[in-house]
Amino acid sequence: MHKVAILGSTGSIGTLTLEVLSHLGQDYKVVALSTHRNVKLLQKQIEEYSPEVVCITDEPSARSLHIRGAKLLTGREGLVEIAKGEADIVVNALVGAEGIYPTLSALQGKKRVCIANKETLVSFGEIVMNTARKYGGEIVPIDSEHSAIHQCMWMGRDEVVEIILTASGGPFRVSGIKKYITPEETLAHPVWKMGKKVTVDSATLMNKGLEVIEAVRLFSVPPESISVLIHPQSIIHSLVRFRDGAILAQLSLPDMRLPIQYALTYPKRTPSLVKPLDLAKVHLLEFEPPDKEKFPCLSLAYKAVSIAGTMPAVLSASDEVCVRSFLKRKITLPDIPEIIQKVMNKHRAIENPVLQEIEEADKWARRETSELVRLLNL
Ligand SMILES: NC(=O)c1ccc[n+]([C@@H]2O[C@H](COP(=O)([O-])OP(=O)(O)OC[C@H]3O[C@@H](n4cnc5c(N)ncnc54)[C@H](OP(=O)(O)O)[C@@H]3O)[C@@H](O)[C@H]2O)c1
Repeated sequence: MHKVAILGSTGSIGTLTLEVLSHLGQDYKVVALSTHRNVKLLQKQIEEYSPEVVCITDEPSARSLHIRGAKLLTGREGLVEIAKGEADIVVNALVGAEGIYPTLSALQGKKRVCIANKETLVSFGEIVMNTARKYGGEIVPIDSEHSAIHQCMWMGRDEVVEIILTASGGPFRVSGIKKYITPEETLAHPVWKMGKKVTVDSATLMNKGLEVIEAVRLFSVPPESISVLIHPQSIIHSLVRFRDGAILAQLSLPDMRLPIQYALTYPKRTPSLVKPLDLAKVHLLEFEPPDKEKFPCLSLAYKAVSIAGTMPAVLSASDEVCVRSFLKRKITLPDIPEIIQKVMNKHRAIENPVLQEIEEADKWARRETSELVRLLNL
């Protein structure tokens, strides 16, 4: 029986993971859960899944409510303790770069990390991959695009010459990002129902940019071998091109429960909760190149990963602050790439950084971005 810890169990990926685990049945036992602030939902999850231990990362929230039925841990240390604990599979469904600490602990314990938390891979990708190699831990992606690539690569990883990441294009595929667009309009994604951060990132195409960096790290390929293709139907989740010109793709209805289940059960495949795809009903699969003028975040991500070192962490940290500021109506959507570009221009990337240097670059980028947001609000 597999013992599973879910970090970020109250989020969009976390709740879907619990649904998938219920479906998979007695071969999987939930042993640990975590939330940042959503204590009410965590309590419900404790009652339904009976984990032995839970963590509330936001300390004031941990103090405000009494948790019944599980050992309570708090803060970053709590997540690390869970990652070191008895689970053999750790699902990292956290949002933001905080996910690095439990990820490293789980990999050091030779566990499987099913990772949705892209900010961790973007900022600390090399350290994460090196830790997995050094200790024998395993990383299986949850992001639907990287799951698709992981699946296609079964056919001959060494023969792959190009990775093609598909993107729905988000709600502003035609108009581009405009000053007048509100947070409410931005959060209404045409295909996927996700957490707020990734939904805003999808609207600016920063999400695709982060995914390019994620793919560079996960599959050890150069950024030039990764391209992006807009595919509004979101049926093809990504493709790989082989040396001989053949292309393989993974197709399914857009439903995160499939890549989540794949990450949990890999290399086994078992029946899932996802409705089978009826291609006759799809009728049309469209493709177009991304418009990099309308969506400057994509080029910023390619630039960050080409410079490498601490630059991807600066891009990602600055984006986290920008998205939060946009949701609080302090900046507009087009301010996001403008601010990130300014912060990146000011940063002197450190080559082959150690963890602490990335943490410092991350903190610096957050400070610089907050200052630029403040100046815009004077
Ligand atoms: N949602 C998707 O379909 C999807 C698809 C592909 C990739 N991803 C990636 O998966 C990750 C999670 O996305 P999501 O959409 O599930 O996010 P989400 O709905 O916002 O959930 C995030 C989870 O992390 C917790 N959390 C938030 N801030 C935290 C902090 N500072 N420290 C520790 N825990 C914290 C949240 O707790 P609270 O509930 O208290 O806020 C929640 O449990 C992101 O990196 C995203 O880019 C998501």
